[in-house]
Amino acid sequence: MFKTLAEYSASSWKGSKEYDGLEAVVAAIADGAQQIQAKVRAAVLAHAVGTTGETNVQGEVVQILDTFSSETLVDTLTQSGRVAAIGSEEIEETVIVGESSAHQYLVQMDPLDGSSNIDVAVSVGSILGIWKRQADEKVRDSTLLKKGTEQVAAVYTVYGSCTMMVVATRESVQGFTLDPTDGTFRLTNPNICIPEKTSCYSTNEGNFKGLDSGTQKAVEELRNTYSLRYVGSLVADFHRNLLKGGIFLYPSTKKSPEGKLRLMYEANPLAYIAEQAGGAASSGKERILDIEPKKLHQRTALIIGNKDVVKTTVAVMNNG
Ligand code: AHG
Ligand code: MN
Ligand code: MN
Repeated sequence: MFKTLAEYSASSWKGSKEYDGLEAVVAAIADGAQQIQAKVRAAVLAHAVGTTGETNVQGEVVQILDTFSSETLVDTLTQSGRVAAIGSEEIEETVIVGESSAHQYLVQMDPLDGSSNIDVAVSVGSILGIWKRQADEKVRDSTLLKKGTEQVAAVYTVYGSCTMMVVATRESVQGFTLDPTDGTFRLTNPNICIPEKTSCYSTNEGNFKGLDSGTQKAVEELRNTYSLRYVGSLVADFHRNLLKGGIFLYPSTKKSPEGKLRLMYEANPLAYIAEQAGGAASSGKERILDIEPKKLHQRTALIIGNKDVVKTTVAVMNNG
């Protein structure tokens, strides 16, 4: 029988100085994911698809499920009693939760990634980066602006043909599958490492014309070497590439000169997971995890996947 998330957390983190309290944060994410996946799967029946009519800080139309997912995870993370502050794609300001000695963690999240895919029954997910708050560090907006290298853990979930939750800490990437019979997450993919062999590339080929010449050359080389697989949900494309080998790229385009994806709660968590699994992640200019954040919702280009292919692709992008 597969070990449950609770069994794994207890044996791996409970009592360890470095990860003290992390099991409560990950349990809160699992609880939130459980509620979100149920809502996503019943969304059409519950008239919960479509937009709220508002636009978020990104200037993007907010889906009903974006708001539900953000509110659900803010609630479960707050209830954990271990999270001092939360950044969310759907909330402009930092959510300040508490400053007691128990509030040791900081969480940045994309509560629902790929939300444009919800009403066509294509996989979506949640992405979260987890940082440590320094002892009696004051909690304010700037507290969340920590480099990706300072993350202590990262989590993503995929609400697809099954519900998976991948949890990474230092040199450990563990995959859990939701057991629908009892609502527990079970350790089905222990010690995930990105395969040596790259099998596909993932990019929106519709942006090709808006790419600079170096990036066009890099995409042409990938096109001539690998199969194209592109779901349009970053977390689903990343999950497939992590398990099967592949490279995902959302470079700077004419339409999104800074890149479309967000540094703090899309690129950083997935870059952390990719590196712990033996992969790499770059903005095309620098290692994602080394980027010094300036703003909560800042964007970045993202090239992520097999280390050698990321390296070659970035070199071609820059040498044209
Ligand atoms: P979100 O739904 O959180 O706004 O993220 C959507 C992102 C990402 O999931 C995906 O890779 C990308 O948007 C797709 O963008 P294009 O439709 O421009 O390819
Ligand atoms: Mn997203
Ligand atoms: Mn989102």
